Amino acid sequence: MEVAAQNCRSKASVGSVRSGEQTGLGQQSDRNGILAPMNRHDDTSSKYCVIGAGAAGLTVCRALRQHGIPFDCYEREHDVGGIFLYGQPNSSLYQSTHLLSSKSTTEYPDFPMPADYPPCPHHSLVLEYFRSYARHFQLYDQIRFQTGVEQLIPSSTGWSVRLAGERARSYRGVVIANGHYWDPVWPDFRGKFSGTLLHSKQYKTPDVLLGKRVLVIGAGNSACDIAAEAVSVAKRVVLSIRRPVHFLPKLSFGKTGDATAQQLIRWGMPLWMLRILSELGARVINGRPQDLGMGVPDHRIFESSVTVSTLVPYHVRHGDITIKPGVDELEGSSVRFADGSTEPFDVIVCATGFRVSFPFIDHRELNGPAGSPRLYLHQFHPHRNDLSVVGLFQSATGGHWGLMHYQAQLLARLLAAQAAGANLDWFDRLRNQTAPDLKGGFATHDSERHQYIVEPVRFERHLTRLIGEFDRRYGQPAVTSAPSAPLAAQRNAA
Ligand SMILES: Cc1cc2nc3c(=O)[nH]c(=O)nc-3n(C[C@H](O)[C@H](O)[C@H](O)COP(=O)(O)OP(=O)(O)OC[C@H]3O[C@@H](n4cnc5c(N)ncnc54)[C@H](O)[C@@H]3O)c2cc1C
Ligand SMILES: NC(=O)c1ccc[n+]([C@@H]2O[C@H](COP(=O)([O-])OP(=O)(O)OC[C@H]3O[C@@H](n4cnc5c(N)ncnc54)[C@H](OP(=O)(O)O)[C@@H]3O)[C@@H](O)[C@H]2O)c1
Repeated sequence: MEVAAQNCRSKASVGSVRSGEQTGLGQQSDRNGILAPMNRHDDTSSKYCVIGAGAAGLTVCRALRQHGIPFDCYEREHDVGGIFLYGQPNSSLYQSTHLLSSKSTTEYPDFPMPADYPPCPHHSLVLEYFRSYARHFQLYDQIRFQTGVEQLIPSSTGWSVRLAGERARSYRGVVIANGHYWDPVWPDFRGKFSGTLLHSKQYKTPDVLLGKRVLVIGAGNSACDIAAEAVSVAKRVVLSIRRPVHFLPKLSFGKTGDATAQQLIRWGMPLWMLRILSELGARVINGRPQDLGMGVPDHRIFESSVTVSTLVPYHVRHGDITIKPGVDELEGSSVRFADGSTEPFDVIVCATGFRVSFPFIDHRELNGPAGSPRLYLHQFHPHRNDLSVVGLFQSATGGHWGLMHYQAQLLARLLAAQAAGANLDWFDRLRNQTAPDLKGGFATHDSERHQYIVEPVRFERHLTRLIGEFDRRYGQPAVTSAPSAPLAAQRNAA
């Protein structure tokens, strides 16, 4: 299905940015006078408030602007990029992070990454990509940086939004794009550890592991990356895995596995066949999980979220990483494991994941228990059009930003139809129905931890079908390139 945005598909890319243009960072501090006060007479009540200028918030800004919907975006950091703004307090990246997903499954569909980027680029290239996106679609002027949203309260006309250190202002609606990999989960073990205890969010470079006895806890992608990186500097590396997993190789036939898997799904390959192929591929390259010293997984590949690593099995076979079961107790400088063994460590890195967190809003407003909103397509509130979340999903295979693009395009159409006074009864009925199956058989094993997993091809089809339905009912929205009263202009007028 073609969507309006695809009709005006741009060949823009990072490389198309005019030479000599500064980074977003430089432009922002020069142009916007970041901390200047807002105009006291600024009336925001007919606008939408977008929270966050990471991958999700940026594409929301682009879609709202494209469809002429007035908005202000607030970002607590000093630039766009979200988690890819390496080194900022809320970035969970380490210096060596490269995309796990390939650029073809990850990029925005109307803004391809440059052809000379490698298939899995380093995070610094990714940040440059986001900056180029923001410049190309003229988004910088509508984002107010170093401005955290502290509280959202529903009002009779929409939402009251309180910014850090400022009065509350009134908005017609709110789009939350605050990310879900910044609030670390710390394991709650018995006992105390006397050495250095880090979360993967705090881990940046391997120098902290130099010559140390290192324990990495977890079996996700962070744990595997950090354990593999520790090998070259640490005295000893142990990986504690409480629940055995399948390690999928990152590359097969010289291509990234996610791109191959998505292509096969698009061609109609059923999950059972993809599972057999993937199990075979994992067996050929990585061997059997139980041969790595961690027992047999209690699930098949894709029944739980996948861990992509070729290096951990490689290093285990060289004796450079030892896999142990879950931690039973911390005993000063030693750790006792579930198999009764005890070992001394200097550093523990807890690569134990992140919790979904919305500290600025009462969780009941998001229709679910804390950290677990129940939203139609993980996006739309079942009863109100003025509150939505974008980016709250995890792709079972491949990247995320293309899907965020379609979420944003759908949202913009909904808000445009609403502003035009269209009858939206059909959509209201739809989002009150039982949620469609977005997983398509993936990650069924552990539904709570994996509640946001989506099979990306299926999810994209849901989103683009709905986009098409909006266009069929209300016509292709008039696309505008004029920004809605930019924040910078408001401040300059103040
Ligand atoms: C180590 C690691 C590697 C990853 N690798 C990949 C990959 O290879 N491919 C892939 O597709 N995905 C990857 N991801 C997932 C990645 O998080 C998403 O792809 C995507 O970048 C998330 O974008 P987002 O906008 O939803 O969230 P974020 O990038 O977290 O952006 C949210 C933004 O909201 C801002 N914000 C939050 N709260 C407030 C507030 N109260 N007020 C104002 N601003 C606020 C934050 O400062 C931030 O800038 C990875 C994640 C991690 C942790
Ligand atoms: N290079 C990259 O692109 C890259 C790198 C890193 C991360 N990422 C992405 O970032 C996201 C987060 O990944 P992540 O690895 O940080 O987190 P994660 O995928 O949530 O994995 C957390 C791991 O910690 C374990 N764990 C949780 N609590 C524990 C406890 N109390 N005790 C012992 N183990 C515990 C979990 O085991 P259970 O299964 O038993 O709960 C799981 O193995 C994912 O989407 C991932 O793909 C990408």
